[in-house]
Amino acid sequence: MSERDQSNDLSHLFTETVQETMDSSVYGAWRGIRDSGAVPLAFGFPYPDSFPNDKLVSAADSLFEIEGDRALQYAGGEYADALPELIVDQARDRGMDCTTDEIHLTNGATNAIDTVCQTFLDPGDTVIVEAPTFMGALRLFRNYGVDIDDVEMDEAGLDIEALAADLAVREAAGDPLPKLLYTIPNFHNPTGVTLTEERRERLIELAVRYDFLILADDPYGQLRYDGAEPLPIRALDETGRTIRVNTFSKTIAPGVRTGWIVAEESFVKQFDRINAGGEPSFTRGLITRYAEDGRLDRAIEELSAGYRKRRDRMLESLEERMPPGTTWSEPNGGFFVWVEFPDGVDAERMLSGAIDEGVTYLPGSFFYTTDTGTRNARLSFSHASPAEIDEGIAALAATVRAEISRAEADD
Ligand SMILES: Cc1ncc(COP(=O)(O)O)c(C=O)c1O
Repeated sequence: MSERDQSNDLSHLFTETVQETMDSSVYGAWRGIRDSGAVPLAFGFPYPDSFPNDKLVSAADSLFEIEGDRALQYAGGEYADALPELIVDQARDRGMDCTTDEIHLTNGATNAIDTVCQTFLDPGDTVIVEAPTFMGALRLFRNYGVDIDDVEMDEAGLDIEALAADLAVREAAGDPLPKLLYTIPNFHNPTGVTLTEERRERLIELAVRYDFLILADDPYGQLRYDGAEPLPIRALDETGRTIRVNTFSKTIAPGVRTGWIVAEESFVKQFDRINAGGEPSFTRGLITRYAEDGRLDRAIEELSAGYRKRRDRMLESLEERMPPGTTWSEPNGGFFVWVEFPDGVDAERMLSGAIDEGVTYLPGSFFYTTDTGTRNARLSFSHASPAEIDEGIAALAATVRAEISRAEADD
């Protein structure tokens, strides 16, 4: 640190929450993974060819032809206004009846979760998350000074009976009950599993019984490669306590930074009220124009075919190459496979060796609030090509074998 830096240390002016959370080691670790040049199985990035560059250019051209300057004005033109209609139509196709009054537009799912946090969470409130869960959501919850508790998962999603037991214990002990439960019901990040419809119904019963909100985050639900979709929690919930969050990040591109919330009209009014900075109306108009005439539906079909190929390649390659004792999830959609390595393998410790060998992944421990997940890793099949995925899994298998030999030699 230079003298100037030292004398100018103004970090005491940060809020208490920022001071408490600013040194999280996980964030530094990301950069090394991202910039390594190894096969990228770490992040849930869509594969580059999936982006509809040309179609967005012609959508922008025609938007200007139709709307002229209005497309760039604060409020935008009629295409920007029509985006909630498009979202309502998509929701209906998935079994959810809603109106545009139940839609609040956001700058992606992350911003949507943040909006829900701003609206409902006070410091000291309890939030329940799945263990493991999306670390971006954990980071947001931490910003609100809440207590985060977790409930384990299995191959059918959140373990509802473990949740019921946890809630009963809290009630009996007079401990605080949760204000909100955060779940990723379809093709969960990081495990890839989907919450069964039976458990969705039971979750709603518990939310009513213990009076908490369900925040259902569903960025991957439309990217399904096998099987039928269970009804969305919000469609099953007649009490209005389910808030649904979604995004175009995975079905168009993360760079459009557009997502939405589906919730009770009375909630949406508050989301609209606290929303600072207005809306990127041009992007919204562009999305609506691009999606018109079934173009988005067709794009989602094509994307699903591209991702299915990648998922299949990853599962085949894992089967072929990983040492005995390694297990993994077999997702019906989404971006992620969750791997458990044999005893003695520490995925965080092994990461730099894996990068040297030519592959990146995210260690399982990044997705927990507690000290667990050391033998797990999240592999994303969304970003690399099928051939690169195979190469990456070969590099991972070699690294795991070396790690097992090292652990045996240490014994
Ligand atoms: C579960 C989950 N929620 C939210 C996001 C972020 O979505 P957005 O890019 O719309 O902020 C992601 C993806 O990265 C995710 O996996």
